Amino acid sequence: MVRDEEIEAAVAVLRRGGLVAFPTETVYGLGADATNRAALRRLFVVKGRPVDHPVIVHLAGPADLEAWAATVPPAAQALVDAFWPGPLTVVLRRGAHVLDEVTGGRDTVAVRVPAQPVALRLLRAFGGGIAAPSANRFGRVSPTRASDVRADLGDDVDMILDGGPCTVGVESTIVDCTSEPPVILRLGGVPREAVEGLLDVAVPVLDTGAIAAPGTHAAHYAPRTQVRVLTDAEVLERAGSLLRCGRRVGLLAMSPPENPPEGLVVLEPPADVDDYARVLYRRLREADARALDDLLVVPPPPTGIGAAVADRLRRAAAGSAEPEPGP
Ligand code: TXA
Ligand code: MG
Repeated sequence: MVRDEEIEAAVAVLRRGGLVAFPTETVYGLGADATNRAALRRLFVVKGRPVDHPVIVHLAGPADLEAWAATVPPAAQALVDAFWPGPLTVVLRRGAHVLDEVTGGRDTVAVRVPAQPVALRLLRAFGGGIAAPSANRFGRVSPTRASDVRADLGDDVDMILDGGPCTVGVESTIVDCTSEPPVILRLGGVPREAVEGLLDVAVPVLDTGAIAAPGTHAAHYAPRTQVRVLTDAEVLERAGSLLRCGRRVGLLAMSPPENPPEGLVVLEPPADVDDYARVLYRRLREADARALDDLLVVPPPPTGIGAAVADRLRRAAAGSAEPEPGP
């Protein structure tokens, strides 16, 4: 339970230009007053993030949109009506006063209304936009618990609101609504199928996001452990050969083998695809905490939120890439 006094204290921290980590339904965010240049600059320093990377502005409700966006095209309005509050971010033409520190100097701004009670209490009490990237150092695994934020950012964050574990577990879906049809810049909590169903049009996924959303480049979301993406059929052979090289090997899969080889660390299997999204980052952190050399992962089927999970696993594998050991 987050008390009202804590919300008030967090608002005071934001007002004086400080940084507040807060829960959202996707991952924890590292929040700063989106109208305070000095606070935004500090946000980038703490994240270790290049200053030309734009950040998402979190709002208390859709009514605040007009303060941030120059125009809201019909497709964006439909998405916002259907999915806010929720794990959906829309990219729109920026409003006149939006700072370059927020947009990375682009003419667009990304906004979302999170579906998390503590986040909404904070946003309402603050009464303005809160710029918030995920509350992890640049390129590392996103935090889904308050303790993850503390472990990653330490005293660099002025205050952490603990709203318990995130219920969705992967970041928001980012839809760029400045093009016609809109384009998905990052797969996330709202399935592509739901976006397409609502708009009644095919919505392409920009493959790497390297151009429009630099924060989505291939080597992201990476633990120190080497992640290796496999199919169920490949697990036993690959585990065996890595174990024979003397490596500490783990497995994350919904259906792990019934008789795993001796020494294979089988992480608790996700119960279903939603659970896979919810526990994904926690399991990647666990692989690091257990000092595994390799984590073999079998992604869920790439439909619905499973597509976002598969995407993050692919990026985690690219981000931790090291050469294949031994013969
Ligand atoms: O679920 C989420 O979206 C979480 C929570 C905290 O809300 N936030 C999050 O923020 O994932 P971050 O900074 O880790 O990722 C934001 C992504 C980046 O890939 C960034 O490049 C993209 O959003 N982005 C932000 N503004 C943009 C813009 N104007 N145009 C294109 N991409 C933008
Ligand atoms: Mg992030």
